[in-house]
Amino acid sequence: MLLSVLFVAATFGLSQAADQALLAAGNVCEVHANGNGTDDSPAILAAVEKCGQDGTIVFSNTTYHVEQVLDTRGLKNCEIQLKGTLLFGTDFEYWLENSLPLPGYDENGYQNQSSAWFFGGDNITWNGYGYGTVDGNGQAWYDFIAGRNNYPGRPHGITIFATNSVISGVRFVQSQMWTMTIHSSKNLLMEDIYVASVSNNGNSTINTDGADTLFSDNIHFDRWHVRNGDDSIALKANSTNIKVTNSEFHNGVGIAIGSIGQYNGIFEIAENFHAENNTYYNTLHALFIKTWAGESVGYPPNGGGGGLGYIRNFVVLNSVMHDCRGYPVAFSQCMTMSPEAGDCNTSTMKLSEITVSGLTGTMLSSAAWVASLQCSAASPCSDIRLDLDLTMTNGTKADYYACSNAEEIEGFECDGPTCELPSPDGTC
Ligand SMILES: *[C@@H]1O[C@H](CO)[C@@H](O)[C@H](O)[C@H]1NC(C)=O
Ligand SMILES: *[C@@H]1O[C@H](CO)[C@@H](O)[C@H](O)[C@H]1NC(C)=O
Ligand SMILES: *[C@@H]1O[C@H](CO)[C@@H](O)[C@H](O)[C@H]1NC(C)=O
Ligand SMILES: *[C@@H]1O[C@H](CO)[C@@H](O)[C@H](O)[C@H]1NC(C)=O
Ligand SMILES: *[C@@H]1O[C@H](CO)[C@@H](O)[C@H](O)[C@H]1NC(C)=O
Ligand SMILES: *[C@@H]1O[C@H](CO)[C@@H](O)[C@H](O)[C@H]1NC(C)=O
Ligand SMILES: *[C@@H]1O[C@H](CO)[C@@H](O)[C@H](O)[C@H]1NC(C)=O
Ligand SMILES: *[C@@H]1O[C@H](CO)[C@@H](O)[C@H](O)[C@H]1NC(C)=O
Ligand SMILES: *[C@@H]1O[C@H](CO)[C@@H](O)[C@H](O)[C@H]1NC(C)=O
Repeated sequence: MLLSVLFVAATFGLSQAADQALLAAGNVCEVHANGNGTDDSPAILAAVEKCGQDGTIVFSNTTYHVEQVLDTRGLKNCEIQLKGTLLFGTDFEYWLENSLPLPGYDENGYQNQSSAWFFGGDNITWNGYGYGTVDGNGQAWYDFIAGRNNYPGRPHGITIFATNSVISGVRFVQSQMWTMTIHSSKNLLMEDIYVASVSNNGNSTINTDGADTLFSDNIHFDRWHVRNGDDSIALKANSTNIKVTNSEFHNGVGIAIGSIGQYNGIFEIAENFHAENNTYYNTLHALFIKTWAGESVGYPPNGGGGGLGYIRNFVVLNSVMHDCRGYPVAFSQCMTMSPEAGDCNTSTMKLSEITVSGLTGTMLSSAAWVASLQCSAASPCSDIRLDLDLTMTNGTKADYYACSNAEEIEGFECDGPTCELPSPDGTC
């Protein structure tokens, strides 16, 4: 195994002093690719073993084939230079059996979700220079899944467990399922990130979320480009102090706060969110907040509801939408696997202090619903401020605000109730 890792000495005609500085900086491992399509994951794991702490790991400008799950947690003071592509294999039988379960509340982990790669540690700098790529070979998955929602064992591309770290200039393309899950992380900046999961036929890219945060604090997404078929960026259980700035989102749902409240009696929050300077192209929403209903029906991952907690202090500033496909702002507290209506008024998860200001642009719809705020009667939402300026296809300003159980509103008036039972995507 170790033979496939080259330990690069500092011999670049630098001065003696610079040489010493490089050597003093610690180990540098350049990962060697087999180059014949066979599994390069042993070489990757060996490099992590040798240089993952106080070292530098270099992926050169070539394709590395990953045919096995990677568990590269435990990095420390580590620099990763990704100049090539990590291409994940498509042996479905292998991945469905072996993908790594996401830590969660019970024996099914978090929603029985799993991942192809666990990545993490403390003080990591990972640079992709704008071209280093993680490729999930997703088309094979989109064809295999053929639109089935949350297929068990279908792996997320990568799960990041990182503190005090920076990830820059990495491209994540054709993700198997969710592109990345940021789990139990704190103080993480991800900047200049390109995400694209696009199907080349009619098979859907359902569940190809751009990024999901879970049990994480102080995460900043800056200058992202996301093109996908599901949530652009989503905040899930216990996401606090999350920032999304200077980014563009194409075709997906938009920024979503979702699947909070699925676990009966469990307390979950999303708090202190700030989004600014984002542009949306053809997305369903700009901001979509959804909670499970207050009645527990079934058990996660195939049911749920009855969770406790709140969503508080969300600020979305200066955003532009192009051709919004649904309601620019949507709240729904109806999520349930139960076919019966009436669940929408039971959630006790309170939505409060939510401001969307300076949201402008165009909608595809010719119905004038610019916001649909379906809040639960059991816990009305409050302190909602909207300052929206969206035009419909015919050029008229969209100015119909549908609200149920919205209190202390500012900047708009409620024109009527939301629809009886909004669907899981917040539309009627
Ligand atoms: C692929 O390359 C590796 C490393 O050079 C070698 O050990 C292996 O035998 C090769 N496998 C095939 C199938 O060519
Ligand atoms: C990587 O290698 C390819 C082919 O060898 C070359 O065309 C490309 O410019 C290289 N990219 C970078 C960023 O060095
Ligand atoms: C973080 O890691 C870098 C090496 O990548 C090192 O130079 C720096 O001192 C580390 N910072 C801390 C606070 O340990
Ligand atoms: C959880 O996922 C596994 C595959 O990883 C699957 O076999 C099992 O049926 C799933 N459990 C539930 C309750 O859906
Ligand atoms: C989905 O992929 C399969 C396998 O490639 C293909 O046969 C089928 O036509 C695709 N379905 C659609 C709707 O494009
Ligand atoms: C989620 O946050 C709540 C409120 O801070 C806390 O009580 C709960 O323990 C957290 N859950 C987990 C799994 O960390
Ligand atoms: C938003 O964009 C403006 C103008 O480009 C810039 O001055 C400001 O710093 C940006 N805000 C954030 C939070 O990045
Ligand atoms: C929820 O409650 C509101 C009044 O608070 C009522 O108008 C609406 O019909 C109820 N919705 C459902 C789905 O029960
Ligand atoms: C655009 O459509 C809305 C309703 O869908 C209508 O009220 C409005 O008058 C239309 N505007 C123009 C300029 O036709």
